[in-house]
Amino acid sequence: MTYNLKPKTYIFGNWKMYLGFDESNILVHALLQQKYVADNMCIAIFPSALAIREVAMAAQDTPIAVGAQNVNWNPKGAYTGEVSAHMFKDVGCTYALIGHSERRHIFGESNEDVRKKLEACVDVGLIPVLCIGETKEDREAGKTQYRLKKQLMKALDGLDMRGGQLIIAYEPVWAIGTGDACLPDDARDVIGWIREEVKLYQSGIVPVLYGGSVSGDNVVSYVSQTEIDGVLVGGASSTYDTFSTLISRVISK
Ligand code: PGA
Repeated sequence: MTYNLKPKTYIFGNWKMYLGFDESNILVHALLQQKYVADNMCIAIFPSALAIREVAMAAQDTPIAVGAQNVNWNPKGAYTGEVSAHMFKDVGCTYALIGHSERRHIFGESNEDVRKKLEACVDVGLIPVLCIGETKEDREAGKTQYRLKKQLMKALDGLDMRGGQLIIAYEPVWAIGTGDACLPDDARDVIGWIREEVKLYQSGIVPVLYGGSVSGDNVVSYVSQTEIDGVLVGGASSTYDTFSTLISRVISK
């Protein structure tokens, strides 16, 4: 396969609820030992809310950025158990995942909630990573574009990014954590379509990543596609061996 590293390839690691405080710190320090050069790569990790401040402090002024897995849209107040976009920004986050499939499907997050979270990110200067994806039922019913169109429209129609960056992650629900990754050519086609769709709402460059069972073994087949700007990795980002292997496969290609 011929492969040219793009001007920027995004490798984002969503640590979900996999790692405790100590485990998160051990992993960030191990990754920092690698001294990745960030010129043509953009690496970010998304630790639990508990570990985020410590991880962000360790990664400060390094090529590894840090993001939140979820935000509350209110700046502060009586919202038990929640953490605001503002608070994440305050402790050194650059990014926030918004509308991740597990938030939508396990915690009932609606397209309206997603929109409010995006606006909160813009308000505080966090770069939102808007996650969208169809379910298996959508796909089998030929409704992939319908589902994605709706998620994009509700999230982006009339949204003023005020010059800030937006990133989109295409994560088919059926591919997340299942080992059943979307075929690279299918991901490329859907992402090509997403790019066109996003132009209806946003001018400027909006990177689009693929996520869903990405591993060291298949990462190159995604990032080698011109349409795909990078990957959002869950399980394989949560151990040093799997994540460092994945990153080195991208670098060495
Ligand atoms: P996975 O998760 O890599 O474990 O499939 C991806 C994600 O949820 O972002």
